[in-house]
Amino acid sequence: MQPKDLAKKLFSEKFNRTSELNVYAPGRVNIIGEHTDYNDGFVMPCAINYGTAVSGAKRDDHTFCVYAADLDQFDCFRLDRPIEQNPSEKWTGYVRGVVKFILECCPEFTQGADLVISGNVPLSSGLSSSASLEVAVGKFCQQLGELPLSNTDIALIGQKAENKFVGANCGNMDQLISALGQQDHLLMIDCRSLETKATPVPHNIAVMIVNSHVKHDLVTGEYNTRRQQCEAAAKFFGVKALRDVSIQQFKEKEAELTALDGEAAKRARHVVTENQRVLDAVDALNQGDISRLGELMGQSHDSMRDDFEITTPEIDYLVELAQQVIGKSGGARMTGGGFGGCIVAVAPVEKVEEVRKIIADNYQKRTGIKEDFYVCTASQGVHLC
Ligand code: GLA
Repeated sequence: MQPKDLAKKLFSEKFNRTSELNVYAPGRVNIIGEHTDYNDGFVMPCAINYGTAVSGAKRDDHTFCVYAADLDQFDCFRLDRPIEQNPSEKWTGYVRGVVKFILECCPEFTQGADLVISGNVPLSSGLSSSASLEVAVGKFCQQLGELPLSNTDIALIGQKAENKFVGANCGNMDQLISALGQQDHLLMIDCRSLETKATPVPHNIAVMIVNSHVKHDLVTGEYNTRRQQCEAAAKFFGVKALRDVSIQQFKEKEAELTALDGEAAKRARHVVTENQRVLDAVDALNQGDISRLGELMGQSHDSMRDDFEITTPEIDYLVELAQQVIGKSGGARMTGGGFGGCIVAVAPVEKVEEVRKIIADNYQKRTGIKEDFYVCTASQGVHLC
Protein backbone atom coordinates (compact mmCIF):
# COMPACT_ATOMS: atom_id res chain seq x y z
CA MET A 1 0.00 0.00 0.00
CA GLN A 2 1.24 3.52 -0.83
CA PRO A 3 2.17 5.79 2.15
CA LYS A 4 -0.75 8.13 1.37
CA ASP A 5 -3.30 5.33 1.79
CA LEU A 6 -1.47 3.66 4.64
CA ALA A 7 -1.27 6.83 6.73
CA LYS A 8 -5.03 7.43 6.33
CA LYS A 9 -5.89 3.82 7.13
CA LEU A 10 -3.62 3.66 10.18
CA PHE A 11 -4.92 6.98 11.44
CA SER A 12 -8.44 5.50 11.61
CA GLU A 13 -7.11 2.41 13.34
CA LYS A 14 -4.89 4.16 15.91
CA PHE A 15 -7.08 7.16 16.72
CA ASN A 16 -10.57 5.77 16.02
CA ARG A 17 -11.62 8.62 13.76
CA THR A 18 -11.13 9.77 10.20
CA SER A 19 -8.15 11.99 9.31
CA GLU A 20 -9.05 15.56 8.35
CA LEU A 21 -5.77 16.67 6.84
CA ASN A 22 -3.51 14.57 4.61
CA VAL A 23 -0.17 15.77 3.30
CA TYR A 24 2.51 14.11 1.20
CA ALA A 25 6.11 15.22 0.53
CA PRO A 26 8.53 13.37 -1.79
CA GLY A 27 12.17 12.34 -1.45
CA ARG A 28 14.58 13.40 -4.18
CA VAL A 29 17.34 12.34 -6.47
CA ASN A 30 19.98 14.83 -7.53
CA ILE A 31 20.88 14.62 -11.23
CA ILE A 32 23.88 16.95 -10.96
CA GLY A 33 25.32 19.56 -8.55
CA GLU A 34 26.69 17.77 -5.47
CA HIS A 35 27.95 19.58 -2.36
CA THR A 36 27.27 22.87 -4.11
CA ASP A 37 24.17 23.87 -2.10
CA TYR A 38 26.00 24.95 1.05
CA ASN A 39 28.48 26.80 -1.16
CA ASP A 40 25.60 29.02 -2.36
CA GLY A 41 25.79 27.29 -5.74
CA PHE A 42 23.58 25.41 -8.20
CA VAL A 43 21.88 22.01 -8.05
CA MET A 44 19.56 20.13 -10.39
CA PRO A 45 17.49 17.48 -8.59
CA CYS A 46 13.98 16.15 -9.12
CA ALA A 47 11.45 14.98 -6.56
CA ILE A 48 10.78 11.24 -6.85
CA ASN A 49 7.76 8.98 -6.55
CA TYR A 50 8.77 7.84 -3.07
CA GLY A 51 7.89 10.00 -0.09
CA THR A 52 6.36 10.55 3.32
CA ALA A 53 2.68 10.95 4.10
CA VAL A 54 1.22 12.60 7.19
CA SER A 55 -2.46 12.14 8.06
CA GLY A 56 -4.01 13.82 11.04
CA ALA A 57 -6.80 15.65 12.76
CA LYS A 58 -7.11 18.41 15.37
CA ARG A 59 -7.16 17.81 19.09
CA ASP A 60 -7.88 20.55 21.59
CA ASP A 61 -5.18 20.25 24.25
CA HIS A 62 -2.21 21.94 22.45
CA THR A 63 -0.52 18.54 22.17
CA PHE A 64 0.99 16.81 19.13
CA CYS A 65 0.60 13.06 19.41
CA VAL A 66 2.55 11.43 16.57
CA TYR A 67 2.51 7.78 15.49
CA ALA A 68 5.39 6.67 13.23
CA ALA A 69 3.74 3.78 11.44
CA ASP A 70 6.88 2.29 9.93
CA LEU A 71 8.54 2.06 13.35
CA ASP A 72 5.38 1.41 15.39
CA GLN A 73 6.31 4.17 17.85
CA PHE A 74 4.48 7.10 19.43
CA ASP A 75 5.86 10.49 20.44
CA CYS A 76 3.78 13.17 22.20
CA PHE A 77 4.80 16.72 23.08
CA ARG A 78 3.07 20.00 23.92
CA LEU A 79 3.11 23.18 21.85
CA ASP A 80 2.66 25.45 24.87
CA ARG A 81 5.88 24.33 26.56
CA PRO A 82 9.47 24.54 25.24
CA ILE A 83 10.02 21.72 22.75
CA GLU A 84 12.98 19.62 23.84
CA GLN A 85 14.80 16.65 22.31
CA ASN A 86 13.46 13.17 22.89
CA PRO A 87 16.86 11.46 22.92
CA SER A 88 15.48 7.92 22.81
CA GLU A 89 14.34 8.04 19.15
CA LYS A 90 16.09 9.91 16.36
CA TRP A 91 13.00 10.25 14.12
CA THR A 92 11.26 12.40 16.72
CA GLY A 93 13.89 15.11 16.21
CA TYR A 94 12.67 15.77 12.65
CA VAL A 95 9.10 16.27 13.83
CA ARG A 96 9.83 18.17 17.04
CA GLY A 97 12.47 20.31 15.34
CA VAL A 98 10.12 21.40 12.55
CA VAL A 99 7.32 22.21 15.00
CA LYS A 100 9.75 24.11 17.23
CA PHE A 101 10.95 26.35 14.38
CA ILE A 102 7.42 26.82 13.02
CA LEU A 103 6.49 28.11 16.47
CA GLU A 104 9.47 30.44 16.36
CA CYS A 105 8.12 32.06 13.15
CA CYS A 106 4.45 31.76 14.06
CA PRO A 107 4.05 31.96 17.86
CA GLU A 108 0.26 32.13 17.38
CA PHE A 109 0.33 28.43 16.39
CA THR A 110 -1.08 26.43 19.29
CA GLN A 111 -3.37 23.97 17.55
CA GLY A 112 -2.73 20.40 18.72
CA ALA A 113 -3.22 17.33 16.52
CA ASP A 114 -3.02 13.56 16.30
CA LEU A 115 -0.80 12.47 13.40
CA VAL A 116 0.25 9.32 11.62
CA ILE A 117 3.44 9.28 9.54
CA SER A 118 4.21 6.68 6.89
CA GLY A 119 6.91 6.72 4.24
CA ASN A 120 8.60 4.61 1.59
CA VAL A 121 11.84 6.49 0.86
CA PRO A 122 14.65 4.00 1.56
CA LEU A 123 16.31 5.20 4.78
CA SER A 124 19.96 6.28 4.95
CA SER A 125 20.46 5.90 1.22
CA GLY A 126 20.88 9.48 0.06
CA LEU A 127 17.32 9.93 -1.22
CA SER A 128 16.30 12.44 1.47
CA SER A 129 13.83 10.54 3.58
CA SER A 130 14.46 13.03 6.40
CA ALA A 131 13.81 16.10 4.23
CA SER A 132 10.55 14.56 3.01
CA LEU A 133 9.49 14.00 6.62
CA GLU A 134 10.40 17.56 7.61
CA VAL A 135 8.58 19.10 4.67
CA ALA A 136 5.49 16.91 5.17
CA VAL A 137 5.31 17.85 8.86
CA GLY A 138 5.90 21.54 8.05
CA LYS A 139 3.12 21.59 5.45
CA PHE A 140 0.82 19.76 7.86
CA CYS A 141 1.37 22.47 10.50
CA GLN A 142 0.97 25.26 7.95
CA GLN A 143 -2.39 23.85 6.84
CA LEU A 144 -3.52 23.00 10.35
CA GLY A 145 -2.86 26.50 11.66
CA GLU A 146 -3.52 28.31 8.34
CA LEU A 147 -0.08 29.87 8.82
CA PRO A 148 1.34 32.44 6.39
CA LEU A 149 4.21 30.21 5.23
CA SER A 150 5.10 29.47 1.60
CA ASN A 151 6.48 26.09 0.54
CA THR A 152 9.92 27.72 0.35
CA ASP A 153 9.52 28.93 3.96
CA ILE A 154 8.56 25.39 4.98
CA ALA A 155 11.67 24.00 3.26
CA LEU A 156 13.94 26.45 5.07
CA ILE A 157 12.29 25.61 8.40
CA GLY A 158 12.98 21.93 7.65
CA GLN A 159 16.63 22.70 6.98
CA LYS A 160 16.84 24.70 10.21
CA ALA A 161 15.35 21.78 12.16
CA GLU A 162 17.96 19.49 10.67
CA ASN A 163 20.84 21.92 11.34
CA LYS A 164 19.87 23.17 14.77
CA PHE A 165 17.75 20.44 16.31
CA VAL A 166 18.87 17.15 14.73
CA GLY A 167 22.45 18.39 14.42
CA ALA A 168 23.18 17.59 10.75
CA ASN A 169 24.81 20.51 8.99
CA CYS A 170 23.10 19.99 5.59
CA GLY A 171 22.46 22.58 2.89
CA ASN A 172 19.04 23.52 1.54
CA MET A 173 18.71 21.37 -1.60
CA ASP A 174 16.82 18.39 -0.17
CA GLN A 175 14.09 20.37 1.56
CA LEU A 176 13.70 22.81 -1.34
CA ILE A 177 13.15 20.11 -3.94
CA SER A 178 10.79 18.20 -1.67
CA ALA A 179 8.78 21.41 -1.29
CA LEU A 180 9.02 22.77 -4.85
CA GLY A 181 9.43 19.75 -7.15
CA GLN A 182 7.38 19.69 -10.35
CA GLN A 183 5.85 16.67 -12.04
CA ASP A 184 7.98 15.44 -14.99
CA HIS A 185 10.56 18.20 -14.49
CA LEU A 186 14.07 18.60 -13.17
CA LEU A 187 14.47 21.76 -11.10
CA MET A 188 17.62 23.84 -11.30
CA ILE A 189 17.88 25.68 -7.98
CA ASP A 190 20.11 28.64 -7.28
CA CYS A 191 20.79 27.86 -3.63
CA ARG A 192 21.69 31.50 -2.90
CA SER A 193 18.81 33.43 -4.48
CA LEU A 194 16.44 30.43 -4.20
CA GLU A 195 15.33 31.06 -7.79
CA THR A 196 14.31 27.91 -9.63
CA LYS A 197 14.14 26.89 -13.27
CA ALA A 198 12.14 23.85 -14.27
CA THR A 199 13.24 21.82 -17.28
CA PRO A 200 11.11 18.93 -18.57
CA VAL A 201 12.59 15.44 -18.39
CA PRO A 202 12.92 14.67 -22.10
CA HIS A 203 10.37 12.28 -23.53
CA ASN A 204 11.70 8.72 -23.71
CA ILE A 205 14.38 9.34 -21.05
CA ALA A 206 14.38 7.21 -17.90
CA VAL A 207 15.82 8.24 -14.54
CA MET A 208 17.21 5.17 -12.77
CA ILE A 209 18.38 4.91 -9.16
CA VAL A 210 20.54 2.09 -7.87
CA ASN A 211 20.97 1.71 -4.12
CA SER A 212 24.40 0.30 -3.29
CA HIS A 213 23.31 -0.50 0.28
CA VAL A 214 26.70 0.73 1.41
CA LYS A 215 26.55 3.03 4.39
CA HIS A 216 29.54 4.41 6.24
CA ASP A 217 29.39 5.57 9.84
CA LEU A 218 31.63 8.47 8.92
CA VAL A 219 29.03 10.31 6.87
CA THR A 220 28.20 13.16 9.25
CA GLY A 221 31.80 13.76 10.28
CA GLU A 222 33.09 13.65 6.71
CA TYR A 223 30.25 15.89 5.52
CA ASN A 224 31.06 18.52 8.12
CA THR A 225 34.78 18.32 7.31
CA ARG A 226 34.01 18.95 3.62
CA ARG A 227 31.95 21.99 4.58
CA GLN A 228 34.77 23.40 6.68
CA GLN A 229 37.30 22.83 3.89
CA CYS A 230 35.03 24.67 1.44
CA GLU A 231 34.64 27.55 3.88
CA ALA A 232 38.42 27.71 4.33
CA ALA A 233 38.85 27.83 0.54
CA ALA A 234 36.24 30.59 0.21
CA LYS A 235 38.12 32.57 2.83
CA PHE A 236 41.35 32.10 0.89
CA PHE A 237 39.69 33.56 -2.22
CA GLY A 238 38.27 36.39 -0.13
CA VAL A 239 34.64 35.63 -1.06
CA LYS A 240 31.45 34.82 0.86
CA ALA A 241 31.14 31.36 -0.69
CA LEU A 242 32.79 29.29 -3.42
CA ARG A 243 29.87 30.19 -5.68
CA ASP A 244 31.66 33.49 -6.15
CA VAL A 245 34.79 31.90 -7.66
CA SER A 246 34.84 31.30 -11.43
CA ILE A 247 36.90 28.50 -12.99
CA GLN A 248 39.30 31.13 -14.34
CA GLN A 249 39.76 32.74 -10.91
CA PHE A 250 40.27 29.33 -9.39
CA LYS A 251 42.98 28.42 -11.89
CA GLU A 252 44.84 31.67 -11.29
CA LYS A 253 45.29 30.91 -7.58
CA GLU A 254 45.15 27.12 -7.60
CA ALA A 255 48.89 26.59 -7.15
CA GLU A 256 49.04 29.02 -4.25
CA LEU A 257 46.13 27.35 -2.44
CA THR A 258 47.54 23.88 -3.16
CA ALA A 259 50.82 24.88 -1.51
CA LEU A 260 48.91 26.16 1.50
CA ASP A 261 46.29 23.43 1.86
CA GLY A 262 46.21 20.72 -0.79
CA GLU A 263 42.94 19.20 0.36
CA ALA A 264 41.08 22.51 0.44
CA ALA A 265 42.30 23.14 -3.12
CA LYS A 266 40.87 19.81 -4.32
CA ARG A 267 37.54 20.40 -2.57
CA ALA A 268 37.32 23.87 -4.09
CA ARG A 269 38.15 22.52 -7.57
CA HIS A 270 35.20 20.14 -7.27
CA VAL A 271 32.75 22.85 -6.18
CA VAL A 272 33.86 25.46 -8.70
CA THR A 273 33.75 23.05 -11.65
CA GLU A 274 30.53 21.38 -10.43
CA ASN A 275 28.70 24.70 -10.39
CA GLN A 276 29.65 25.24 -14.02
CA ARG A 277 28.58 21.68 -14.88
CA VAL A 278 25.09 22.35 -13.52
CA LEU A 279 24.74 25.44 -15.72
CA ASP A 280 26.05 23.48 -18.70
CA ALA A 281 23.63 20.64 -17.91
CA VAL A 282 20.68 23.04 -18.08
CA ASP A 283 21.85 24.18 -21.53
CA ALA A 284 22.34 20.58 -22.65
CA LEU A 285 18.82 19.67 -21.54
CA ASN A 286 17.33 22.69 -23.25
CA GLN A 287 18.99 21.55 -26.45
CA GLY A 288 17.79 17.98 -25.93
CA ASP A 289 21.45 16.90 -25.83
CA ILE A 290 21.36 13.90 -23.48
CA SER A 291 24.77 12.80 -24.61
CA ARG A 292 26.26 16.08 -23.31
CA LEU A 293 24.27 15.76 -20.08
CA GLY A 294 25.72 12.27 -19.67
CA GLU A 295 29.24 13.55 -20.27
CA LEU A 296 28.76 16.19 -17.56
CA MET A 297 27.40 13.55 -15.16
CA GLY A 298 30.51 11.45 -15.81
CA GLN A 299 32.78 14.43 -15.10
CA SER A 300 30.81 15.14 -11.93
CA HIS A 301 31.36 11.59 -10.74
CA ASP A 302 35.09 11.72 -11.46
CA SER A 303 35.32 14.99 -9.57
CA MET A 304 33.48 13.55 -6.55
CA ARG A 305 35.78 10.53 -6.64
CA ASP A 306 39.13 12.30 -7.17
CA ASP A 307 38.72 15.84 -5.79
CA PHE A 308 35.92 15.74 -3.24
CA GLU A 309 36.77 12.13 -2.29
CA ILE A 310 33.27 11.08 -1.25
CA THR A 311 32.68 7.94 -3.33
CA THR A 312 33.39 4.32 -2.33
CA PRO A 313 34.71 1.44 -4.47
CA GLU A 314 31.21 -0.10 -4.56
CA ILE A 315 29.67 3.15 -5.81
CA ASP A 316 32.43 3.63 -8.39
CA TYR A 317 31.79 0.11 -9.63
CA LEU A 318 28.03 0.68 -10.00
CA VAL A 319 28.69 3.84 -12.01
CA GLU A 320 31.23 2.04 -14.19
CA LEU A 321 28.72 -0.77 -14.93
CA ALA A 322 25.92 1.65 -15.79
CA GLN A 323 28.24 3.74 -17.98
CA GLN A 324 29.36 0.62 -19.87
CA VAL A 325 25.81 0.02 -21.08
CA ILE A 326 24.72 3.62 -21.46
CA GLY A 327 27.79 4.84 -23.39
CA LYS A 328 27.10 8.21 -24.99
CA SER A 329 23.32 7.84 -24.85
CA GLY A 330 23.16 9.29 -21.30
CA GLY A 331 25.16 9.13 -18.08
CA ALA A 332 25.59 7.91 -14.51
CA ARG A 333 27.05 9.26 -11.28
CA MET A 334 26.86 8.98 -7.53
CA THR A 335 24.01 11.05 -6.09
CA GLY A 336 23.59 12.59 -2.63
CA GLY A 337 25.95 13.29 0.23
CA GLY A 338 28.34 10.40 -0.47
CA PHE A 339 30.19 7.56 1.24
CA GLY A 340 27.71 5.03 -0.10
CA GLY A 341 24.05 5.47 -0.89
CA CYS A 342 22.81 5.57 -4.47
CA ILE A 343 23.87 6.23 -8.03
CA VAL A 344 21.61 7.93 -10.56
CA ALA A 345 21.60 7.05 -14.26
CA VAL A 346 19.85 8.83 -17.11
CA ALA A 347 19.35 7.03 -20.41
CA PRO A 348 16.80 6.25 -23.14
CA VAL A 349 13.98 4.04 -21.83
CA GLU A 350 15.08 1.15 -24.06
CA LYS A 351 18.37 0.90 -22.15
CA VAL A 352 16.76 0.33 -18.74
CA GLU A 353 16.64 -3.47 -18.84
CA GLU A 354 20.23 -3.69 -20.03
CA VAL A 355 21.42 -1.43 -17.18
CA ARG A 356 19.41 -3.44 -14.66
CA LYS A 357 20.92 -6.67 -16.03
CA ILE A 358 24.60 -5.70 -16.07
CA ILE A 359 24.29 -4.56 -12.46
CA ALA A 360 22.30 -7.62 -11.36
CA ASP A 361 24.86 -9.89 -13.03
CA ASN A 362 27.96 -8.25 -11.54
CA TYR A 363 27.50 -6.05 -8.48
CA GLN A 364 26.70 -8.68 -5.89
CA LYS A 365 29.27 -11.04 -7.40
CA ARG A 366 32.03 -8.52 -6.78
CA THR A 367 30.86 -6.84 -3.55
CA GLY A 368 28.73 -9.46 -1.80
CA ILE A 369 25.91 -6.88 -1.51
CA LYS A 370 22.61 -7.02 -3.39
CA GLU A 371 21.57 -3.70 -4.93
CA ASP A 372 18.07 -2.25 -5.29
CA PHE A 373 17.10 -0.85 -8.67
CA TYR A 374 14.37 1.73 -9.23
CA VAL A 375 13.09 3.57 -12.28
CA CYS A 376 11.66 6.79 -10.92
CA THR A 377 9.30 9.49 -12.11
CA ALA A 378 10.04 13.18 -11.56
CA SER A 379 7.23 14.10 -9.19
CA GLN A 380 5.27 16.95 -7.67
CA GLY A 381 6.64 18.52 -4.48
CA VAL A 382 4.67 18.66 -1.22
CA HIS A 383 0.88 18.57 -1.68
CA LEU A 384 -2.39 17.71 0.02
CA CYS A 385 -3.63 14.23 -0.71
C1 GLA B 1 23.11 15.87 1.51
C2 GLA B 1 22.70 17.22 2.10
C3 GLA B 1 22.42 18.26 1.00
C4 GLA B 1 23.57 18.33 0.00
C5 GLA B 1 23.97 16.91 -0.46
C6 GLA B 1 25.20 16.93 -1.32
O1 GLA B 1 22.03 15.32 0.81
O2 GLA B 1 21.54 17.07 2.89
O3 GLA B 1 22.16 19.52 1.57
O4 GLA B 1 24.65 19.01 0.54
O5 GLA B 1 24.21 16.05 0.64
O6 GLA B 1 24.96 17.54 -2.53
